[in-house]
Amino acid sequence: MRDAAPQTVYLEDYTPFGFIVEAVDLTFRLHPTATRVLSRIRFLPNPEASDRTFFLHGEDLRLIRAAIDGREITPELSEAGLRADVPDAPFTFEAEVEISPATNTALEGLYMSSGMYCTQCEAEGFRKITYYPDRPDVMAPFEVRIEGDQPVMLSNGNPGARGADFAEWTDPWPKPAYLFALVAGDLVAHRDSFTTASGRKVDLAIWVRPGDEGKCAFGMEALKKSMRWDEEVYGREYDLDVFNIVAVDDFNMGAMENKGLNIFNSSCVLASPETSTDGNFERIEAIIAHEYFHNWTGNRITCRDWFQLCLKEGLTVHRDSEFTSDMRSAPVKRISDVIDLRARQFPEDQGPLSHPVRPESFQEINNFYTATVYEKGAEVIGMLKRLVDDDAYHRALDLYFERHDGDAATIEDWLKVFEDTTGRDLSQFKRWYSQSGTPRLHVREEYEGDTFTLHFRQETPPTPGQPDKGPQVLPIAVGLLNPNGDEVTPTQILEMTQAEQSFTFEGLRVRPIPSILRGFSAPVMLDHAEGKDRRAFLLAHDSDAFNRWEAGRELARESLVQTVLTGAASDAAYLDGLKAVIRDESLDPAYRALMLGQPTQSELAGLLYERGETPDPEAIHDAAEGLRDAKAAAFAGLLPGLYEDNQVPGPYSPDAQSAGRRALANAALSLLSRRDHGAQAQAQYDRAGNMTEQLSALSALIDAGKGDLALGRFYDQWQGDRLVIDKWFALQVMLAAPEETAAVAERLTQHPDFDMTNPNRFRAVFGALAGNHAGFHYRDGAAYRLLAEWLMKLDPLNPQTTARMCTAFQTWKRYDADRQDMIRAQLERIAALDGLSGDTSEMIGRILA
Ligand code: ARG
Ligand code: ZN
Repeated sequence: MRDAAPQTVYLEDYTPFGFIVEAVDLTFRLHPTATRVLSRIRFLPNPEASDRTFFLHGEDLRLIRAAIDGREITPELSEAGLRADVPDAPFTFEAEVEISPATNTALEGLYMSSGMYCTQCEAEGFRKITYYPDRPDVMAPFEVRIEGDQPVMLSNGNPGARGADFAEWTDPWPKPAYLFALVAGDLVAHRDSFTTASGRKVDLAIWVRPGDEGKCAFGMEALKKSMRWDEEVYGREYDLDVFNIVAVDDFNMGAMENKGLNIFNSSCVLASPETSTDGNFERIEAIIAHEYFHNWTGNRITCRDWFQLCLKEGLTVHRDSEFTSDMRSAPVKRISDVIDLRARQFPEDQGPLSHPVRPESFQEINNFYTATVYEKGAEVIGMLKRLVDDDAYHRALDLYFERHDGDAATIEDWLKVFEDTTGRDLSQFKRWYSQSGTPRLHVREEYEGDTFTLHFRQETPPTPGQPDKGPQVLPIAVGLLNPNGDEVTPTQILEMTQAEQSFTFEGLRVRPIPSILRGFSAPVMLDHAEGKDRRAFLLAHDSDAFNRWEAGRELARESLVQTVLTGAASDAAYLDGLKAVIRDESLDPAYRALMLGQPTQSELAGLLYERGETPDPEAIHDAAEGLRDAKAAAFAGLLPGLYEDNQVPGPYSPDAQSAGRRALANAALSLLSRRDHGAQAQAQYDRAGNMTEQLSALSALIDAGKGDLALGRFYDQWQGDRLVIDKWFALQVMLAAPEETAAVAERLTQHPDFDMTNPNRFRAVFGALAGNHAGFHYRDGAAYRLLAEWLMKLDPLNPQTTARMCTAFQTWKRYDADRQDMIRAQLERIAALDGLSGDTSEMIGRILA
């Protein structure tokens, strides 16, 4: 189970594999603890490679026999794989290995989840199934035969022969091993079909455990919408006779785009009004789209090596964001994405784990499925699109598909299609892939005669391994308003390429008010010394929905910072401006709900640190609570009406309009219950007909200190539903008072339903613990100790999830010496664990460095 000593791999060391794989034939004889995997692989010497060493990856395999061209061989075995002498001509390699899915708690390779067999091979899990060149640039067509007594047995591609105890599958599209999948078990299907633009009928199915078939309809609709959208917007059609999705309870990540057989964490596909919130519905729609879109951006065109991960992930996140913007509200999606980027990517890029969108070295690739690769990777593509315009973007994408279909490609290939399409030189732009860290963009204004000038200066602070940075290409979207609030210069993109650069606007008879970085046109931290009045003006008048929200956000940040630093009361100008926005019925309710939100405590801690202050988690917590109380008081007259007017009558529908109204009503409820001691929340809890209303009522009750009864009722009602019980676990930790948070989490780990081997359940408790800023950083250090203790218990079972959860400690250098000492002690304790996995050891090493 334990990895061999971790080794660092470098991008610059890439060499092609010595052989081409012409065809792969696999037979699985399923058994919980002794599955046999028989492989027949046709190899040809690769004329493009100089090194003909025949090395196949393989880990935790018991080799039964191996043969070349039918003659038994005795290969040289190591912890990492197999080496053999092979002919200097085409040959067939055969092997039989034995593996034990039932004891595979790492959830990588072939494993069992709730009695069913399933696989997760990305990034390097196939080597735990059989000996193979497990690297994405080795692509081959696969034939699979599954033997066993499972009622349903699935693999990639199109179905072939099927008997009582076997099933055959053929995937005609050459693919790398990381896209291999197998599922077998007692499953039921929710079926539908889709006719592609060229008239081919595709059979669609979502496979779930019996009892869950009522939670598939929404996912199926999302799949069909995604298929249509990819045809209409990118001209991409589906390319097999079937498309299968399977829901699995035990899964390390969200979902996986295996060719023709996507495997999903059940939390990312199962949906029903009674058990899923509006947020769950939106996320499920986006993840179904994301995995489906990978069929072209990831599968038909894959990555040459894992350093190129952002080639498929950044692009596919960009595509799923575009999809969600089209299906729902574009400004709301943009704001949500930026909130998420600031919550997850900025802290990563500003701490010890900072790495480029295309990393140049790694020990364990699973540690690089990060917000930087995914979300910053998507931002980089958004910038490229803004720089070249929509039309050129789509021409470049057409060329990308035409030129690279069937390839394992690189970022160089990707940028080249843009250069060839537009004639631009993207060599400086390429820094976005190689340079880590978040650029800071400073702005100064000047007005003279009738000329208005914006002076920009950019700098990117040093990050691990990168002391000096060059200037980035920044598309800065700017519009100008006059003092009446009318737009005098509509949005234009200023293209900044130098460290310092100025842009002038002429013919302006009154001094304009600039709205800068509209739509968050580049992933930077903007430093614009605007006064409060200016921000209040933009909050009232900006015609750019993102920047209007951002003006409110800036006022909220500043108000909170002042409270923390000087004890000042919440900013009245902010509250006034916000009031006008939330009572403006011409604005989308979802947008007004976002306006009512405020920066997280963790974001404030980052902001204070950035300003040279040592963040005090308790003071930040009190300031955040104070601002909520101030809103509850300032809007007291408005909230009941806001709450009533945004009730959504009739049967539940997860559409964006209804969800937006519920979001606004529930934002109002959470403020109302600060004054009525939870009375309104209790009434909502008692009549709630869907999970969105039930959960927000429960949150408001807990917040008002009135949650105990409802928490008990909630548990009794949902005891049988794993995904809902995950919410029950998470909510209690998320909303616990700072001094009680660790104790609440610890108590929940004793609950009979706590199961550390299920990543969703582990994350429900410990993700929430890390997310409760004041609780996690409570001065007694109890939460640090508790998390470390459980990470040490989980590591031997599931290194991937353990390593990922170590990121809870990535911001440790922000805090005071006492907290740093306590955290360092815990990190060192984990590092010293006997037999610590390579995954976790790499993460701890980087965090401590
Ligand atoms: N390719 C998947 C997705 O983005 C993520 C799978 C990553 N899994 C892992 N174990 N690293 O949709
Ligand atoms: Zn993906």
